[in-house]
Amino acid sequence: MFQAIPTPKGDPILSLITEFRNDPRDQKIDLGIGVYKDDHGITPVMQAVTLAEQVLLNANGTKSYQGLTGDEQYNESITQLLLSGTSALDRCATLQTPGASGALRMLADLIADTAPNSTVWISNPSYVNHRPIMEKAGLTVKEYSYLDAQTKAVDEDAMLAQFAALGSNDVVLLHGCCHNPSGADMSLEAWQKIAELANKQGFLPFIDIAYQGLGDGLEEDTKGLHIIANQVDEFVISTSCSKNFGLYRERTGAALIVSNTLTAAMNSRAKMCELARGSYSMPPAHGAAVVDTILRDDNLNAIWRKELTAMNTRVNGLRAALVQEFQAATQSNRFDYFGEHKGMFTLTCISNEHIAQLKEQFGIYIVGGGRINVAGLNQSQVKPLVEAFVSIGA
Ligand SMILES: Cc1ncc(COP(=O)(O)O)c(C=O)c1O
Repeated sequence: MFQAIPTPKGDPILSLITEFRNDPRDQKIDLGIGVYKDDHGITPVMQAVTLAEQVLLNANGTKSYQGLTGDEQYNESITQLLLSGTSALDRCATLQTPGASGALRMLADLIADTAPNSTVWISNPSYVNHRPIMEKAGLTVKEYSYLDAQTKAVDEDAMLAQFAALGSNDVVLLHGCCHNPSGADMSLEAWQKIAELANKQGFLPFIDIAYQGLGDGLEEDTKGLHIIANQVDEFVISTSCSKNFGLYRERTGAALIVSNTLTAAMNSRAKMCELARGSYSMPPAHGAAVVDTILRDDNLNAIWRKELTAMNTRVNGLRAALVQEFQAATQSNRFDYFGEHKGMFTLTCISNEHIAQLKEQFGIYIVGGGRINVAGLNQSQVKPLVEAFVSIGA
């Protein structure tokens, strides 16, 4: 049966990890895979997570099945974290999923099941997995203009002009904050215009928010989302606890459906349960229990928020250092965009030749397209990185 399966090409990011690991140079720098690292190059378990795990261990709970919707307490907590204070709260139904990836897929399956002729519009560029997830669910995928490669900012006029031509068969996939891979977020004015266009044209906003708290702060990062939540009847959200709780491998996320009535939202969630039953059935329990324990406990919540702020401060300090070093090395403001971008990444748009030179000559590993994981750097690597960029004329 399986002999005809061809040998796969290999995931470019995963093969970069292997190459990096096998590189014997001491000064090598890994800016590839999108995980947060501390100053020692470690992706730490957050203290709030360890403390919550202790609480769960002491509670001596059960490992029995949880049910198709996952942990309902977690669903409630994560909904509050995203939509608290908005009019969407009482017409929202939430499903715990295996990461935001699981949420993206379940929502895509729901859309494909309900409106199979839908086209999903993703930003150009977008998270590397958006297209395959949507396509594997059977949906048509098209791209909308997003990043201006020259300014490294969002070309809002071009993007909005495209949205103005969409209709009720269209789904617009937006990054809630900290756009991956570019780091360029749109203005609140653009969010407002999207809300108006969604109402006028009838397209469905699909907001993927995988980095809440890693941009300007937990509440600030939902400002765009809240504009949609308060003004648009129907939209969906995929969210992740991989980055902001550091729970990458625990596969903790959620899919939220907001409709004009709670009944419609709950029926949609029930449909997703049926679809999940046909694949992974139920989400894993541990990560969700940890998140819920943190969000329900004032003390743990405060510890977690403090840790998240410290992560942000570290990344923003690196961004400021990069801007300063680049200004000094190039006598120009060409790289100021490092300071304007939000979250873990910045897309430099450097050529494939430059990416290859950085790897071969300096042991600096960057993924195709030139995305730099700023959150993977430490202060001592800023100067060598800038010098390498300047020396190859990137
Ligand atoms: C924009 C975006 N969406 C979704 C995901 C998937 O997150 P998870 O690890 O929760 O599946 C990522 C992960 O990098 C992402 O960057």
